[in-house]
Amino acid sequence: MDWIVRPIAQGLRGVVRVPSDKSIGHRAVILGALADGTSTLRRFSFGEDNVSTLKAFEAMGVAHEILEQGSVKQPIDGRPLDCGNSGTTMRLLAGLLCAQEFGSTLVGDESLMRRPMRRVLEPLRRRGAHCRGQKHPTKDDETAPIRIAPLVEGEALTGIEVALEIASAQVKSALLLSGLYAHGPTVVQEPTLSRDHTERMFEGAGVPLRRVGSVVQLDPAGWDGRIAPFDITIPGDPSAASFLVVAANVIPGSVLRVVDVGVNPTRTGAFDVLRAMNAGAELVSKGDVSGEPIAHLETSAAVDESGAGMRATMIGGELVPRAIDEIPVLCVAAARASGTTVVRDAAELRVKESDRIATMAEVLRAFGVDARELPDGLEIVGKPTGPLRAATVASKGDHRIAMSAALLALRGDGPSIIRDVDCVATSFPGFARTLADLGASIDEVEEVDEAGHG
Ligand code: S3P
Repeated sequence: MDWIVRPIAQGLRGVVRVPSDKSIGHRAVILGALADGTSTLRRFSFGEDNVSTLKAFEAMGVAHEILEQGSVKQPIDGRPLDCGNSGTTMRLLAGLLCAQEFGSTLVGDESLMRRPMRRVLEPLRRRGAHCRGQKHPTKDDETAPIRIAPLVEGEALTGIEVALEIASAQVKSALLLSGLYAHGPTVVQEPTLSRDHTERMFEGAGVPLRRVGSVVQLDPAGWDGRIAPFDITIPGDPSAASFLVVAANVIPGSVLRVVDVGVNPTRTGAFDVLRAMNAGAELVSKGDVSGEPIAHLETSAAVDESGAGMRATMIGGELVPRAIDEIPVLCVAAARASGTTVVRDAAELRVKESDRIATMAEVLRAFGVDARELPDGLEIVGKPTGPLRAATVASKGDHRIAMSAALLALRGDGPSIIRDVDCVATSFPGFARTLADLGASIDEVEEVDEAGHG
């Protein structure tokens, strides 16, 4: 499907809710499957990525109306587990499944089958797991399919200490999940703390964790292995919310409130960046829900009709892991800010659902914004006044590129076409409808030609 996006004439106004956090959703399904009784996941997002995790557990005999197995079983028909587009599903499941006495195979869609997997497989092998990927076609790395051979009777994973070179919640979580079954402690040290939802959920379910700064230790000695069932209300996804917050900031006359958004400090880098850009992103705390802080986000347009408002900024260092998924949408804010925004230390963007440095630079240029790729980031010369140039751009199957392009298109000088937008359903199924309810004109059509005819 494609989108035809028309320039918006008036501000976005309203109160909205975004889908619940998919990072937390994946972890809640996994832990719920392992817990010793029935767990309840409230506001679970049925975005395709979370559904990939749910279906993988269904294939392992875990019913999702009643998650009460307390363990996972050999996939029912022995078929590979399909992780769809979801890197989190694949990497976390690799950690969990390499500790089991049954074998499994993990596959995904075209994009996921190209993503680097050695970062998770190599430390798992070091602790005794029998898992391997395919040789990466172009890099010294491994890709899916990931084949995991069972641990044989009497075999167990060992304790391990890992110092990660790049902060990664997926690698950390894979190690912690495998650590639930290991004979010895799991210690993971990150250069800066990445999202810590796994740690928070483990603590809530009685798993013995100790944490100091960006070091986490799971020591199963003396633990009965019991994971207590839980009842969790999953907060709104701050990554999804950031698209609406940026939209409201770049469209004059907008006043928007996004309710019940997760504001775990490991996830709020984008809102810090926006405030540094003089954009509106006020967090009104609503306290903690199920071990995670939530807030309402209050936003009003930073820009006025003259284009005055936002200023360029520098994004790098410890901010990057706290804003990694939001960098594409922050590029949209940068496109409307005065001055040159520089993103550094973000080479990880090259191995996400697409090469987000290359794709985003291409999309920005198509809309008439001067953008240059750096090896580990981008330089964007803001164009704060006047409309952007309407464009036809490809999402490259990347949900966050499609949504970022749609926001640029709302400030275009005519209708724009965003191609291949089905991927948006992985994280934000109602994105176009939500914007339309707030006054935008986004039509989803089968396939559209350059003249804008569906
Ligand atoms: C995620 C971790 C991040 C993030 C991804 C979700 C998670 O990836 O980019 O969208 O839920 O653990 P890395 O762990 O590769 O940094």
